[in-house]
Amino acid sequence: MKLIYVFLVTFLYINGSLGNKLKCTVPLTRDVPNAWLDMANSCVDLLKSQVETEIKAAMTYLAMGAHFARDTVNRPGFSKFFFESASEEREHAIKIIEYLLMRGQLTDDVSKLLSSRVLPLRETWSNGVGALTEALELETNVTKHIQDIIRNCEKPNNSNFNDYHLVDYLTGEFLTEQYKGQRDLAGKISTLGKMMTAHGALGEFLFDKKLLNNEV
Ligand SMILES: *[C@@H]1O[C@H](CO)[C@@H](O)[C@H](O)[C@H]1NC(C)=O
Ligand SMILES: *[C@@H]1O[C@H](CO)[C@@H](O)[C@H](O)[C@H]1NC(C)=O
Repeated sequence: MKLIYVFLVTFLYINGSLGNKLKCTVPLTRDVPNAWLDMANSCVDLLKSQVETEIKAAMTYLAMGAHFARDTVNRPGFSKFFFESASEEREHAIKIIEYLLMRGQLTDDVSKLLSSRVLPLRETWSNGVGALTEALELETNVTKHIQDIIRNCEKPNNSNFNDYHLVDYLTGEFLTEQYKGQRDLAGKISTLGKMMTAHGALGEFLFDKKLLNNEV
């Protein structure tokens, strides 16, 4: 019985009745209804600018990672930490792009999301405490941007439309990570500061070793 079934399917396939149906005849452009697109323009613009903020933060962390890996600086722990931070910021940018795509809002080229010069703030840092302190300031700025978006999109232009989903997404996914990251940086600045008070430059050297093994 099974064998007959297999023969029948094979015959139908060879006969072309299935094959024809599989031919691609879908036109390249179609009119997709757009009533489901319900994001306020101001929120879309804010999210787009958030992509740039995250990329800028990633660039600054890349510069920090490279700085601490220089032969003359040679702090592999700091370098590893900042390169990992750069990847996290890049992930955030991707998440926001994916969110805009899910809501059907990314109609421009992705390259239009970035200004032509998204550069790091600077490329050398005097020491580890300086870089960690700047990282904390950077994260604080990112958090403020996210809070601005939440405030605006909770009630765009005081309309009756509430973008609950976006607000919930930003609050749950992004703010939680921001607060954890800020607490982590604050703790590191505190520990490193104490080690340097007690041991001077040796403190930074030891802290770097701990950082390399994820022990601080
Ligand atoms: C909100 O208001 C600003 C300025 O009044 C206007 O440019 C913008 O188009 C408005 N956005 C929405 C979604 O109504
Ligand atoms: C944080 O934002 C302030 C105000 O916009 C700016 O002056 C400062 O350079 C920013 N700091 C960092 C590390 O991005």
